[in-house]
Amino acid sequence: MRVLGIETSCDETAVAIVEAAADDRPVGRILANVVYSQLTEHRRFGGVVPEIAARAHLERLDGLVADALAEAKLGLSDLDGIAATGGPGLIGGVMVGVMTAKAMAFAHDKPFLAVNHLEGHALSVRLTEEVTFPYLLLLVSGGHCQLLTVRGPGDFTRLGTTIDDAVGECFDKTAKLLNLGFPGGPAVEKAALGGDPQRFQLPRPMWRKPGCDFSFSGLKTAVRQTIEKLPAGDAKAISDLCASFQRTVGDVLADRCANALARAPATTLVVAGGVAANLYLRGRLETLAAQHGARLVAPPVKLCTDNGAMIAWAGLERLRLGQTDPLDFRPRPRWPLDMGVESRT
Ligand code: KG4
Ligand code: ZN
Repeated sequence: MRVLGIETSCDETAVAIVEAAADDRPVGRILANVVYSQLTEHRRFGGVVPEIAARAHLERLDGLVADALAEAKLGLSDLDGIAATGGPGLIGGVMVGVMTAKAMAFAHDKPFLAVNHLEGHALSVRLTEEVTFPYLLLLVSGGHCQLLTVRGPGDFTRLGTTIDDAVGECFDKTAKLLNLGFPGGPAVEKAALGGDPQRFQLPRPMWRKPGCDFSFSGLKTAVRQTIEKLPAGDAKAISDLCASFQRTVGDVLADRCANALARAPATTLVVAGGVAANLYLRGRLETLAAQHGARLVAPPVKLCTDNGAMIAWAGLERLRLGQTDPLDFRPRPRWPLDMGVESRT
């Protein structure tokens, strides 16, 4: 079984083709994976501009589909399904991806799959690792920070979420205030290398409180206030602050995951989403999981940030279960993961 996946919900135009492993192993294989990152389009604005993103998706998508098919040495008739991110995300971009996928599905008489972007992140680990359901998922990206029990495609229970900002947003804001560039996560991680993680004591919102919710706005404010007091051009202080910031985020994530593991015991903790690319945070979560008799599994770094392979894979997982979508599926700017399959109409 082979599925082509399109991702256009933010600032990456991405197309991939994946197939289920030929043997019985519950993993897949990536036959093609192409990404056009719109960094240069958005950099001078310091963030993603929705209209510019939608136009860039429109200009690039056809070419990327052709590139992916060429890389996989396949034609559209060799595919078993066409998937696209159906939401949540910037609606102009989502519409571009959905319309393109629907047109290809209609013209070649293939099933169409509207994939929830968050489900793409949630299942991505199963593309490369043998991870069976159920598992506990920490989903950390630019727009989301959630803890969920994943029982299967379309079958999620949310244990907690952020009551204000997402953790990736907090990384991006910190990088912007320190002039480290955009996107901020990788820049902060790099600046933190060799820094003193104990130098700055920052607030840890929700830490040691009951439940599994998150909050990052107080940390964001404290980082801004700390930066305002730093002497200009002090590279050591910047490095120390980034390391202290990362440690603080690590403390909070580990504390929340510990509560989730106590409430919904699991043998596997999965971390996914753009922030899961952070090796320091992975290390912290690995230790935490081991303390609870669980193992931590994360997708390869390249598959943590937005990509087409995770959309193709989630589409394939749903296609195997016979869950396809009608061609009148409407792109949705908001689409919570725990609404279930019935939320598709
Ligand atoms: O999953 P993603 O590509 O897009 C969304 O669905 O939001 O996540 C993007 C977020 C950005 O906030 C980015 O700064 C963050 O993931 N990120 C990282 C790292 N790489 C990307 N955060 C921390 N450390 C990283 N290495
Ligand atoms: Zn994402």
